[in-house]
Amino acid sequence: MDQPLSVRLGAEALGTFLFFFLGFSGIAVAVSFGFEAIGPLGIAAGFGFGLTLAITAFGQLSGGHFNPAVSAGLAVAGRFPGRDVVPYWIAQLVGGFGAVLRSLHFWLSGIFIVTLTLHLLRTFATAAYKAPREGIWLTGVALFTLGGGLLFTGTILKWDQEAFEAFGHNIEIAELLGVFGFLFSPEFTDSVSLLTRTYVAHVSILPLLLAGLVGVHVLLVKRLRISPAPFGTPEEAERREREEPRLPFTTHLARLLYWTLVALGIALVLAALRPTGIGPEGVEGIEITKPPWYFLWLYPLENWFGLRALVVMPALLLAGLAALPFVDRSRERDPRRRRAWMAFGSAVLVLWIFLTIYGFNTIPVSHVGEM
Ligand code: HEM
Ligand code: HEM
Repeated sequence: MDQPLSVRLGAEALGTFLFFFLGFSGIAVAVSFGFEAIGPLGIAAGFGFGLTLAITAFGQLSGGHFNPAVSAGLAVAGRFPGRDVVPYWIAQLVGGFGAVLRSLHFWLSGIFIVTLTLHLLRTFATAAYKAPREGIWLTGVALFTLGGGLLFTGTILKWDQEAFEAFGHNIEIAELLGVFGFLFSPEFTDSVSLLTRTYVAHVSILPLLLAGLVGVHVLLVKRLRISPAPFGTPEEAERREREEPRLPFTTHLARLLYWTLVALGIALVLAALRPTGIGPEGVEGIEITKPPWYFLWLYPLENWFGLRALVVMPALLLAGLAALPFVDRSRERDPRRRRAWMAFGSAVLVLWIFLTIYGFNTIPVSHVGEM
């Protein structure tokens, strides 16, 4: 334990990774091949041997805690310096997250799209898209589009059967888009394959654009301040806008951070209980899987109207969202006084839920190549 802190932290992160990786691999086997393939004893052995191996390999360097409660407990008992507790916790979290990275990424992306949609619905219901906040709404719609792009390109990267089919759709959609589809078509360049381009888009271009746009979005909220409670007549809401003191901006950021931490916690629990992996190896030219749940609403539309629906429907949805602040120009903000808009929004939501459930229950059919 006389090692410098950096060595001890590295050992703690690696050890926690090893311990968790071996332990969670047992759960992954149970999820992928059935519980009888490994059984409770096998899973427990994975964790047990994982910890033993980690302590044997790294215990000499860091003390072999590999668990935040152990570091805290030892510090309380006076057997570990208190100032090292937080660095140890961070190293353990990094190692632990690393061990379930793939599942964590899968669950976090689901929580991301659910949160995004709830936030969109909230701002729609309180008419936060109206003047002077049209810019915040428009950057929000762009973020929603980028989110969809990240979900789609992510699905392709797994390169399993589902990915193959998504990839086939990608190519046909590029052809449908004509000149606008060149970036997504295999003919764009021979030197960088379409899969590599998708990878670059997913891990760097789209996340960078997303981060930049979140910055602009949040700065606009800082500048224009968050809208006041929408209830009452337009005059009442406007008086509140002028006179009421608002929460400081840092409060919103703190809330964003709290939610991120809660989401991380939920995703970690889900990643532990339901580890994800890749599906069966892809076979080109067949269509037997369905899209992930967030794209299921498009599935029946594709069945009824063909591949075109995959371009037309999302484009209509996004164009409708972008046009909203310019179409709905009344000063009313109270949802109870905007009955027609609330009914319209609810109808779109119900239709989306219906299409998703319908898509979930239909039998996969082939579309690619039928254009
Ligand atoms: C990564 C995506 C996004 C992030 C991180 C984000 C973040 C935020 C934050 C922190 C606020 C301050 C108010 C609050 O805490 O609720 C806000 C407000 C707002 N957001 Fe987003 N947002 C995102 C996506 C969207 C989307 C998809 C839309 C809608 C299409 C949207 C529309 C708005 C509007 C209109 C406001 C102003 C709310 C008001 O004044 O009441 N945002 N956003
Ligand atoms: C908000 C941002 C992001 C979203 C919504 C997102 C979404 C997704 C989704 C849905 C998948 C498919 C996962 C599965 O079905 O198992 C995926 C896979 C993947 N993502 Fe992301 N992603 C985001 C950011 C990133 C970033 C920043 C990186 C890397 C720097 C990244 C790297 C990857 C890789 C390498 C895969 C393939 C993993 C595998 O084979 O399971 N993603 N992503």
